[in-house]
Amino acid sequence: MAKKILETFNLSKHFGGLKAVDDVSIYVEEGDIFGLIGPNGAGKTTLQNTIAGTFPPTSGKVLFEGKDITGFKAHQVCHAGINRTFQIVRSFPRMTAMQNVVVGGIFGAGLTETQAIAKAKELLKFVEFPADPDTPANTLNTMQLKRVEMAKALASNCRLLFLDEVAAGLTPGELNDIIVLIRRIRDSGVTILIVEHLMKLIMEVCNRLAVLCFGELIAMDVPSVVTSDEKVCKAYLGDSLVLNS
Ligand SMILES: Nc1ncnc2c1ncn2[C@@H]1O[C@H](COP(=O)(O)OP(=O)(O)O)[C@@H](O)[C@H]1O
Ligand SMILES: [Mg+2]
Repeated sequence: MAKKILETFNLSKHFGGLKAVDDVSIYVEEGDIFGLIGPNGAGKTTLQNTIAGTFPPTSGKVLFEGKDITGFKAHQVCHAGINRTFQIVRSFPRMTAMQNVVVGGIFGAGLTETQAIAKAKELLKFVEFPADPDTPANTLNTMQLKRVEMAKALASNCRLLFLDEVAAGLTPGELNDIIVLIRRIRDSGVTILIVEHLMKLIMEVCNRLAVLCFGELIAMDVPSVVTSDEKVCKAYLGDSLVLNS
């Protein structure tokens, strides 16, 4: 059996009386493309944020590569080896594509500027960034920005990459491109945790899934088992268009 790269134990994040994440125990194995799904407001982003140190958990524990990272701040989690792209692309708009990735190498992996530039060149190739690396980020289209965001995250030498709603705003053709890219990142040795609404992407790329509903974990298994689970189908009731799309 593969090694567990990430484990949460009874992880909870409450906002006042709202149990956004409630007692969630999941594990991600090395080499997984792990999908975190659930209806809108289920707690997917909050679970990612809690693991990634955006805010500390209310209770529970997080292990990464066997090491306790519970309560680590965002930069500590990043240095431990977890990085992420965001639902809303957060590249520095005034910087070029290249500079964005260089920043990732300097602050994420502690590279010198020279090293970070070399790494950025390599990564922009790896993500098949199609334009001039000196293009300002604020003139790039959605797919180009997503490639830059991924290169920037990978520049930190992370071993686990979180992707939040990476398919949002993409055309069907771009969706296929992103699927190819996600697989290539995994094949390069980076484990992936995807939060995604779009079932087409989830069913095509994920080998394991966890389903959240009102903050609680209701299923965790291979996709075929999860999608035939009665609790999961109920959770998606009224949201069936999403499940079938
Ligand atoms: N910073 C916050 N403060 C208060 N409530 C929040 C905060 N972030 C998320 N929530 C609430 O937590 C619940 C889960 O949200 P979220 O994790 O964004 O869900 P998902 O990503 O699955 O759509 C929602 O009810 C949301 O309104
Ligand atoms: Mg979300």
